[in-house]
Amino acid sequence: MKLEIVILAAGQGTRMKSNLPKVLHQVAGKSLLEHVVRTALELQPAAIHVVVGHGSGQVREALSAYELNWVTQEQQLGTGHAVMQALPDISPDSLVLVLYGDVPLTSRETLQALVGQAGDSPALLTAVLADPAGYGRILRDGNGALLGVVEDRDASQEQRAICEINTGVLAAPARDLQAYLPRVDNDNGQGEYYLPDVLKLAVVEGKQVATSQAESELEILGVNDRVQLNQVEREYQRRQAEQLMRQGVSVADAARLDIRGEVVCGEDVSIDVNVVFEGSVTLGNGVTIGPNCVLRDVTVGDGACIHAMSHIQEAAVGNDCNVGPYARLRPGTVLDSGARVGNFVETKKANIGAGSKVNHLTYIGDCEMGEGVNIGAGTITCNYDGVNKHPTTIGDGVFVGSNSTLVAPLTIADGGFVGAGSTITRGVEENELAVGRPRQRNIQGWQRPGKRDNED
Ligand code: UD1
Ligand code: CA
Repeated sequence: MKLEIVILAAGQGTRMKSNLPKVLHQVAGKSLLEHVVRTALELQPAAIHVVVGHGSGQVREALSAYELNWVTQEQQLGTGHAVMQALPDISPDSLVLVLYGDVPLTSRETLQALVGQAGDSPALLTAVLADPAGYGRILRDGNGALLGVVEDRDASQEQRAICEINTGVLAAPARDLQAYLPRVDNDNGQGEYYLPDVLKLAVVEGKQVATSQAESELEILGVNDRVQLNQVEREYQRRQAEQLMRQGVSVADAARLDIRGEVVCGEDVSIDVNVVFEGSVTLGNGVTIGPNCVLRDVTVGDGACIHAMSHIQEAAVGNDCNVGPYARLRPGTVLDSGARVGNFVETKKANIGAGSKVNHLTYIGDCEMGEGVNIGAGTITCNYDGVNKHPTTIGDGVFVGSNSTLVAPLTIADGGFVGAGSTITRGVEENELAVGRPRQRNIQGWQRPGKRDNED
């Protein structure tokens, strides 16, 4: 049976108290809905239908990179009503998996197991929670067969004591949904058409509804307010940190590492506190990341050390490099092996050759730098003339004295030497010394001004 997936994302999410549609709030740098869509894609369904309503334009825009069939639910009359809106687009002989846009972390394995259980009849993902408040409760007969779901609001005192809850995730043959959804009524506490009511109807028709359980609570946590959003975020982050540690990474504090993307680590990587990884980050063997670093879309080679407070984005740090403390590597920075970028140095579109050193208080932008170069403190590549950006080329073994301004476009050939405090506007040839500064004048017998009377 081919699989089609329906994701419900039309609700407003009133309890978020936000302008942003609930499903666009983020966990680990991705919207709730994107998490669900990505998991859905892993199941390789024939189609994914997303039911939207509140802020639908914004939601569609945010997910425009994905191939999705958008279904509009003008009025949010309940989860059953929402699935009804998608039915006309669903092939009648498919199996339908319903996911909620506000339940972001259900795993592929859990969903696959559920789908495997549904064939001729529906299957429901349930969970047993210590605190089931707020969720729909699972009703079973004396033999343990599922009878239906009762919503928290509609539940009796006794039913509220049931700890097995409806996660919201269910799989059902499209034909069952077609048969039962139109018969669901809204005669309940919220005046809504409840999707789980199709199960009750199926059971009345003599069908068995299978249930399966998620491996962990995190998988079924729904986000209704910002407290729950944060709970999901923290739990997700804790698990990611744990995963890294199990792979052999030293993490100083699992509660102070945030991964908003994917991290791949070699052996014996060590990560200090308050580190944020975004996008795609690859760390080689023996890499050390100091405290308070932010790395986004970065590769770091074997043995490299990123010292405290460094901010690195879209850059490649080679083997055995040293970066920071307080370094900022902006997009297009490439450090060849053994290069060193020290404190208060900013780089952008810069290739720093092997073993070259840019140790203090410097800006290197639009620069191609050779090997074994030494850039003195306070050096600036003046790459911008107010209109255009220009390149600076620095050959192997060049020495640039402190506090030099290198006005681009400019080439300093191999072995070139720039005297401290120079403003360099013309190219420097191989092994030339360039000094571009006023000569020093010493005035002998100079009298310091004295302090005048009646002035403080
Ligand atoms: C729902 C279930 C409840 C379950 C819980 C699990 C129903 C009636 N109740 O309750 O049994 O324990 O999820 O988290 O299904 N939505 C629409 N259109 C609508 C209404 C909702 O698209 O008209 C979407 C929402 O955007 C949300 C999802 O469906 O993504 C769930 O809706 P919500 O109102 O949060 O349901 P719960 O009260 O949490
Ligand atoms: Ca919910």
